[in-house]
Amino acid sequence: MFSLAQSPVFALLAFLQLSYADYYIDDTNSTLNYSTTTEVIWGAFNASYTISLPLANGTYMPVDGYACYNNTYLLLLVGDYSLTHQEDAACHSSDNCILSIPFTGSGITIYVYQSGPIGINASFEVDGNYCQTTVLNAPSPPSYAIANVSMFNIQQLTSGPHVGSLTVNDIFGSYSGMIWDYAHVNETLVAALETTTSASTTSSSSTSTTSSTSSPSQYVYSIFTVISFSHPR
Ligand SMILES: *[C@@H]1O[C@H](CO)[C@@H](O)[C@H](O)[C@H]1NC(C)=O
Ligand SMILES: *[C@@H]1O[C@H](CO)[C@@H](O)[C@H](O)[C@H]1NC(C)=O
Ligand SMILES: *[C@@H]1O[C@H](CO)[C@@H](O)[C@H](O)[C@H]1NC(C)=O
Ligand SMILES: *[C@@H]1O[C@H](CO)[C@@H](O)[C@H](O)[C@H]1NC(C)=O
Ligand SMILES: *[C@@H]1O[C@H](CO)[C@@H](O)[C@H](O)[C@H]1NC(C)=O
Ligand SMILES: *[C@@H]1O[C@H](CO)[C@@H](O)[C@H](O)[C@H]1NC(C)=O
Ligand SMILES: *[C@@H]1O[C@H](CO)[C@@H](O)[C@H](O)[C@H]1NC(C)=O
Ligand SMILES: *[C@@H]1O[C@H](CO)[C@@H](O)[C@H](O)[C@H]1NC(C)=O
Repeated sequence: MFSLAQSPVFALLAFLQLSYADYYIDDTNSTLNYSTTTEVIWGAFNASYTISLPLANGTYMPVDGYACYNNTYLLLLVGDYSLTHQEDAACHSSDNCILSIPFTGSGITIYVYQSGPIGINASFEVDGNYCQTTVLNAPSPPSYAIANVSMFNIQQLTSGPHVGSLTVNDIFGSYSGMIWDYAHVNETLVAALETTTSASTTSSSSTSTTSSTSSPSQYVYSIFTVISFSHPR
């Protein structure tokens, strides 16, 4: 028989568990929209297909696909790389090299692979806001390569669906050597700082969104009841 003092004390703690699982969007993800307006293309590569970039002294250096997330990357290039496997990673502002990244979460970090003797200048925005421009100078010789470089990081967005947009700019008046690798999506819950007034809560900054944005998104949060068993002494 247990005395009352010996019996377990059940402390019932019910609280809101903010359930999330961060995830990655690799360059191969089919939800991505790559576009350009010229003969420059976003070329999809992997470690089993080595492409080479020109150096100033006329020699070439290989892009190390193994240094990239999941061994894949996208390189902006001109011309028929299949003949020589030698290319400039090159995009001018006038080529309108744009990568659109839909994601669901409260933050996104954009990672690039710096390879070759050309730096990168690019801009990134989310839902047409929070525009950031980052300039990465060319990596130093002799490797001319830095893997896993965080180029943009936008956090504290209201949790939900968003669209990130990456645009490649000229650097020092010439082309950028963009190699895009992957994105990390932060799913930590960030609640909307909205006052629940009437039905018409679609306020906030009305930016240049396309067209059919209907009702505000519904967010479903997981609620876990956690029961903690504690024994006295
Ligand atoms: C990484 O590659 C594996 C194997 O191909 C694939 O299952 C996984 O989805 C990839 N990860 C991402 C984030 O794309
Ligand atoms: C992809 O992006 C381009 C340029 O922003 C746009 O014109 C096109 O409609 C988009 N395609 C899809 C399928 O969203
Ligand atoms: C690797 O990239 C090459 C060149 O784009 C492509 O032909 C090949 O199918 C890719 N291989 C894999 C396993 O994705
Ligand atoms: C591709 O991206 C979507 C949207 O962010 C994501 O839900 C999905 O898990 C990704 N797929 C892979 C294979 O990583
Ligand atoms: C060209 O430059 C690279 C990188 O600095 C160097 O490793 C290589 O030896 C050079 N080659 C010649 C032939 O000068
Ligand atoms: C890439 O960088 C991020 C953040 O800096 C880090 O968490 C991750 O482990 C790195 N990945 C590799 C393969 O080094
Ligand atoms: C994820 O978002 C939370 C809340 O905004 C923030 O505290 C945390 O630093 C973010 N994590 C990363 C890896 O950016
Ligand atoms: C980077 O691009 C922005 C936007 O086009 C431009 O204003 C800025 O001067 C560029 N920076 C460099 C170093 O080229």
